[in-house]
Amino acid sequence: MRLTTIAASVALAAGLSSAVSSAVAADVEVLHWWTSGGEAAALDVLKQDLETQGVGWQDMPVAGGGGEAAMTTLRARVTAGNAPTAVQMLGFDITDWANEGVLANLNSVAEDENWDAVVPTALQAFSKHDGNWIAAPVNVHSTNWVWISKSALDEAGGKAPESWEELVAVLDAMKENGITPLAHGGQPWQDATIFDAVVLSMGNDFYKQSMIDLDMDALSGETMVEVFERMETLRSYVDDNFSGRDWNLASAMVIEGKAGMQMMGDWAKGEFLKAGQTPGEDFLCIRFPGTQGSVTFNSDQFAMFGQEGDADAQQKMAAAILSPEFQSAFNVVKGSVPARTDVSDGDFDDCGKKGMKDLAEANEAGSLFGSMAHGHAAPAAVKNAVYDVVTQHFNGGLSNEEAAEELANAVDAVL
Ligand code: GAL
Repeated sequence: MRLTTIAASVALAAGLSSAVSSAVAADVEVLHWWTSGGEAAALDVLKQDLETQGVGWQDMPVAGGGGEAAMTTLRARVTAGNAPTAVQMLGFDITDWANEGVLANLNSVAEDENWDAVVPTALQAFSKHDGNWIAAPVNVHSTNWVWISKSALDEAGGKAPESWEELVAVLDAMKENGITPLAHGGQPWQDATIFDAVVLSMGNDFYKQSMIDLDMDALSGETMVEVFERMETLRSYVDDNFSGRDWNLASAMVIEGKAGMQMMGDWAKGEFLKAGQTPGEDFLCIRFPGTQGSVTFNSDQFAMFGQEGDADAQQKMAAAILSPEFQSAFNVVKGSVPARTDVSDGDFDDCGKKGMKDLAEANEAGSLFGSMAHGHAAPAAVKNAVYDVVTQHFNGGLSNEEAAEELANAVDAVL
């Protein structure tokens, strides 16, 4: 009798503990930097999608646009032997972690869902390592966009700029009208986001030579000096309080009509939408003048750290991320476009439709390039070297000529 009771309670305890551990196993701890209003709204779409599949969510947000702070936290967690189960990551960071052999293999879900056929090859270059799927792409962002307040543009003549000269003319007119022409946050990754677009405005070949091939002559030459001249010009349209400002606060300046425009990736659209604004009516999205037809992209992907007991939830999360319905629902809110080529643009607004069309056309035309600012052109060491020089120059610490020379030196030093 006694024995039976003990056996029963052991069985009960075992049952309980397996129930508990399967509840734990069905949780994912997600490290990400999606903390702005628009980003959080998009993250919610993912959270809710997973909830419906019985996958619980443990939030591990690390604020800081562009994800530098998140990557520092990730390194500390992994070093402490306590890696999160799923991590938002960009481009070469994924490759770096894959090289360390710590990322979970997603081949079986990729095979079941036929990712090879539907994920654009430019993304697969980062989602796969040695032929194995090690990350699930959730979106494609692009960085060469300008977000313009419709009313500020109307007051400045009404015509969206198509060339560098037209851009400067509109910025001048906005200045005359008494608003801050260019909303900007002085953080290295934001300076570098504008730099991406300015380099691209010098031509596709120049972007490729300097940012992808890291050609020393392109990095230090006359065209790069002109890039820095343009950066200096843009700097003159920024308000005095720009230093350290978060990117979403710069978006808010445009949303509120205090500033004319922001040069930022299409995650900025998430902020406009969250504020109830409509493209074409309240704001315009245009490609950075001189970069029409070309796209500098980055793709947020989730990589899973291989830990016992988490595999089931991780595979479920990976499958959910790539489902066509989720790709549409999430990217409509986030401002990005789907990481699959077979998703309809039916639910997207005009900027989203344009983003999808631009991406497909640039891919066809060979004018689709990885963004330097967002980790898709070169590994982190090079990216950080570029950040340093671009930011030093933007804050007046280097002349245009010195900046071009320093850029080549700084990149050379980490190669
Ligand atoms: C990018 C990321 C976007 C967006 C942005 C600002 O690197 O790809 O999803 O979140 O940073 O935080």
